[in-house]
Amino acid sequence: MEIKPNVYAVGAIDWDRRLFDELIPLPDGTSYNAYLIKGSEKTALLDTVDPTKTEVLIDNLVRLGTQRIDYLIAHHAEQDHSGTIPDILTLYPDAKVVTNPKCRGMLIDLLDIDQEKFITVDDNETLSLGDKTLQFVYIPWVHWPETMGAYLQEDKILFPCDFFGSHLATNSLFVDDEPVVYEAAKRYYAEIMMPFRGPIKKNLEKIKDLQIEMIASSHGPIYDKPEFIINAYKDWVGDQVKNEVVLAYTSMHGSTKKMVEHFVDALTQRAITVKLFNLAAADIGKLAISLVDAATIVLGSGTVLTGPHPLVTYAAILTNALRPKTRFASVIGSYGWGGKMLDQIKNLISNLKVEILEPVIAKGHPQNEDFTALDRLADEILAKHKELEIT
Ligand code: FEO
Repeated sequence: MEIKPNVYAVGAIDWDRRLFDELIPLPDGTSYNAYLIKGSEKTALLDTVDPTKTEVLIDNLVRLGTQRIDYLIAHHAEQDHSGTIPDILTLYPDAKVVTNPKCRGMLIDLLDIDQEKFITVDDNETLSLGDKTLQFVYIPWVHWPETMGAYLQEDKILFPCDFFGSHLATNSLFVDDEPVVYEAAKRYYAEIMMPFRGPIKKNLEKIKDLQIEMIASSHGPIYDKPEFIINAYKDWVGDQVKNEVVLAYTSMHGSTKKMVEHFVDALTQRAITVKLFNLAAADIGKLAISLVDAATIVLGSGTVLTGPHPLVTYAAILTNALRPKTRFASVIGSYGWGGKMLDQIKNLISNLKVEILEPVIAKGHPQNEDFTALDRLADEILAKHKELEIT
């Protein structure tokens, strides 16, 4: 499909994929976007597709009558975009892989591509295709260190690879349902980019002087109103948190659940929004989305084999890895006869720059004093949120 004169989307939609990295849920599938630019003198292919979709990319190139590819632009070494490079180099043996030095090294390591095949480019370097010019922009740490984007100067299209992308399978070439794309893009940001808020802020700063009419990421539909996703990213990477508590818990015999129910009620009475996740059935992606904005996270767990329930351990490890801008944390839960559940959870979230608020741990079934302590914790959260002026 042509997105601007002589600029074509040639990637693949993956309607059925449900997991990425065997970890990240993809409830709406995804796409691996690749773009073919036919300049008056040279032809460039921007990225390839996941190796499971090689035939789709090749079919699309054939249907466009692509006799020759001069440049294969590799923005990022991860295999969902680079995995078909070896097949393309076999079909188009004159093509040179254009990338930055760090990505070149990673592509050699990951895909065993011949060193002679590469042309490396510096930040802001340009590459002429005749009547079209690509300007490369390094945008490191949109989860890997080597990623770059390309700006097509004449058509004012930014190709930023994963940056601004969304895991969303759709045959709409352009964004046609902003709320749906917003959630998919936020999920993607939350799951892989949130730990790199600092570098991403710098990347946003870096592209701000480009005149961008379209953003064509490597996942999801193209943004023909780029301010929609740029403004969303500014909000997500900003320091502001919201009057929200993410409460992720599991309960084996009901004690922790009773505490959770009381606590949700206490927070509701204080007009604090609760994002509640029963980890036995939760979509971890939605938990990640909630962590983007929440001022406070509370983990709820019973005690299993002297420690937290493994599902809570998993949520704590994930939260620790995602390093949200959350400001406060606490733990609620129960135990039967002892254990180190509380200390272990605190250790698991040691990356978070949070103030730990006094936990509430009940011995067995929660008693009146435990419910009173939960009210006290809700009061403390409200007071902390008021200090931040977010209530
Ligand atoms: Fe879509 Fe980091 O690859």
